[in-house]
Amino acid sequence: MIYADIRKKRKEYSISQTKLAEASGYSKATISAWELGKSIPSNYELSRLNEALSSIIKDIEDCIFDVRKKRITHYKVEKRDLPSPIRSADDYKERLSLRAVKETPYSKSLSDLYHKAQKQKDSNAPKAIALFSGCGGLSLGFAAEGFNLVGHVEIEESANRIYDDNFSGSRLLGTDICKISDGDLREWISEYGSIDVLVGGPPCQGFSLAGKRDPEDIRNQLYKYYVHIVSVLQPKAFVMENVRLLTSMKNSDGRLFIDCILESFSKAGYHVIRREINACDYGVPQSRERVILIGIRNDIKKEFEFPVGEYTNDNQVNMLFSPKKRLSFRDATGDLQPLESGESSSDPLHWSIVHPEHVIKWLKDVPEGCSAHENKDPAMRPPSGFNTTYKRIMWDEPCSTISTNFSMISGCRNVHPTSTRSLTIREAARAQSFPDEFVFSGKWGEIRKAIGNAVPPILAAAIARSILDQLFVD
Ligand SMILES: C[S@@+](CC[C@H](N)C(=O)[O-])C[C@H]1O[C@@H](n2cnc3c(N)ncnc32)[C@H](O)[C@@H]1O
Repeated sequence: MIYADIRKKRKEYSISQTKLAEASGYSKATISAWELGKSIPSNYELSRLNEALSSIIKDIEDCIFDVRKKRITHYKVEKRDLPSPIRSADDYKERLSLRAVKETPYSKSLSDLYHKAQKQKDSNAPKAIALFSGCGGLSLGFAAEGFNLVGHVEIEESANRIYDDNFSGSRLLGTDICKISDGDLREWISEYGSIDVLVGGPPCQGFSLAGKRDPEDIRNQLYKYYVHIVSVLQPKAFVMENVRLLTSMKNSDGRLFIDCILESFSKAGYHVIRREINACDYGVPQSRERVILIGIRNDIKKEFEFPVGEYTNDNQVNMLFSPKKRLSFRDATGDLQPLESGESSSDPLHWSIVHPEHVIKWLKDVPEGCSAHENKDPAMRPPSGFNTTYKRIMWDEPCSTISTNFSMISGCRNVHPTSTRSLTIREAARAQSFPDEFVFSGKWGEIRKAIGNAVPPILAAAIARSILDQLFVD
């Protein structure tokens, strides 16, 4: 076999160099150098590449990949080992009812949040609309604090299905935000009267390190539609969430995006409080850095203080609150059944994908907090990559950021502290503070995406509470 054969096959199946790099353990730069003929792989390297490629192709042929987008949604999963997808809300509830449960203070607090969110709202409850609503992480926090979520806008069918199953009172007001006309907005006003709060975070891939940070990325312009809807509906307040990297991203004129966003909200009649926060300071068992903008309409003359994160690991005494200890991955998931690669439990979301033997060998003896790249024996290290990858998270610290790729063992800090496998969907949902009762249905890749994209409901609830207390209570 020569490299040209690998390249031909890769192109035929539209497999990106990045995906081949992830599956084979070689870096994208190495693969690119082989493709350009700048260097020549050894026979051993060729056979490993071929093995990785064949396994991706097998999965494509088994329809495990999202072929439409030519993108891998799972890493090396053998079809026979996958539990069947959750077909509907009833299917989820039925499977959940059959699992063995052991309630913990954390799982109980999430359950309480879910039940608060489900309570019927009275007619005085402030009305909210969620834009870019995803599956509803942000909405869940607002609903739990008493906001009446009357409508939402979201383009992905799979996210809408999950949202509908959890927010039965909310109406899908539009799919593509770019297609919402002023006529539509007038209809919303005549149907709901005034809207009190708009919440939503435009997609962040265009800004995140995981994406290419391309200023021309169309997703970086979507905030303009959000601003337009704010300017027409004139809610008392709005909340916009995004990745922290948004604050350093420039547009093609060299201006900071964040300055453009703040300026356009100011023109729409709002003053904006901006904070860069970490979700773990608000009681989420996960380190997740985000920028939050809370906009208040200029005529609202109430003072507004951004909510303070009350969870810390510092021993400093604070005059404003008595600090609580940050929640850890153990607090969030310690009650779940221990699982190794390929094993499953009675919980419909707690099962592990099957990882290749050679990856398990690299990781088996790696201590928590360390990466397989740090193994003393070079033969036990992945052939290339950074030591943030193939890395175990720590039991007694907040979990690392949950992205949409949390099931990829080669991703950033996705390996369980003691079991040799990537995180299960239940572990990721818990780390994101989704209650077990929150209904997830659809293909596994769709559920992973919805969870990785979400604002943690516990963080959303802290923001919602501060808005409610300061702007809506006399
Ligand atoms: C960061 S996620 C939002 C997550 C949500 N705030 C939550 O807490 O679950 C961004 C969402 O915007 C949606 N989206 C992307 N482009 C859109 C468009 N043109 N119109 C409406 N929604 C869009 C994506 O499908 C994605 O679900």
